[in-house]
Amino acid sequence: MARDEGSAPTQHWDPARYRRNAGFVAELGMPVLDLLAPQPGERILDLGCGDGALTEKLAATGALVVGVDQSPEQIAAARARGLDARVADGAALAFRGEFDAVFSNAALHWMLDPDAVIAGVHRALKPGGRFVAEMGGAGNAKQVVAAAVAGLERRGIDGRAAIPWYFPTPEDYRGRLEARGFVPREIALIPRPTPIPGALADWLETFGDAFLTRLAPDDRHAYLEELEDRLRPALMQPDGKWSVDYVRLRFAAMKPAN
Ligand code: BEZ
Repeated sequence: MARDEGSAPTQHWDPARYRRNAGFVAELGMPVLDLLAPQPGERILDLGCGDGALTEKLAATGALVVGVDQSPEQIAAARARGLDARVADGAALAFRGEFDAVFSNAALHWMLDPDAVIAGVHRALKPGGRFVAEMGGAGNAKQVVAAAVAGLERRGIDGRAAIPWYFPTPEDYRGRLEARGFVPREIALIPRPTPIPGALADWLETFGDAFLTRLAPDDRHAYLEELEDRLRPALMQPDGKWSVDYVRLRFAAMKPAN
């Protein structure tokens, strides 16, 4: 039954499937874009830009935007929008003092070495620059994660070891920002139950390689059906649409001017 009990594999992104099942991610990114308040001519790094849907909105404000993402497929999709987008590891950013702001939406929870990410963001910013982001926070998708883990455990697989995300509390993330020299301006946990466009199985197939690849291909369909059966009472809305119990961690932090 188990295919791989080792460390979580890298998520593979299929831009077409992402657009179909995750288009809402960029659409729901407007509040954090508002918090960023980009100004024309500012140089802004979009960390974990994905297929560039929100990067494009950022660039439309007149900011000069560079997008980075670890997925070559997503970067190809972002470049196809005419964006300056580059493949890079968020935990090893190579920029030095060149951005007025670093922005990130729905990406930091995939980066499992937050201190290395924060250090790279700090290096990338000019003195006086800002780091403005939204990510999954403590309790994010809690019911889905619990069901995905339990489904693996019923099959004799270490489900907790499969979790590929880091969903911090505000206290945790604030401490890490301060330890690197940032001055947090605001940081808050925001529950945001989110209707998704397709079935819950599509959501997990889009985002949950770490769980599914623990199973042999022939076992995945039954695992997904079981997951939906168990979560239907809690997460299916009266109109028949699925809603995921998202919780956002949104923050803005400054790099001191000197
Ligand atoms: C999120 O944006 O919070 C998220 C998306 C997919 C998987 C896990 C978390």
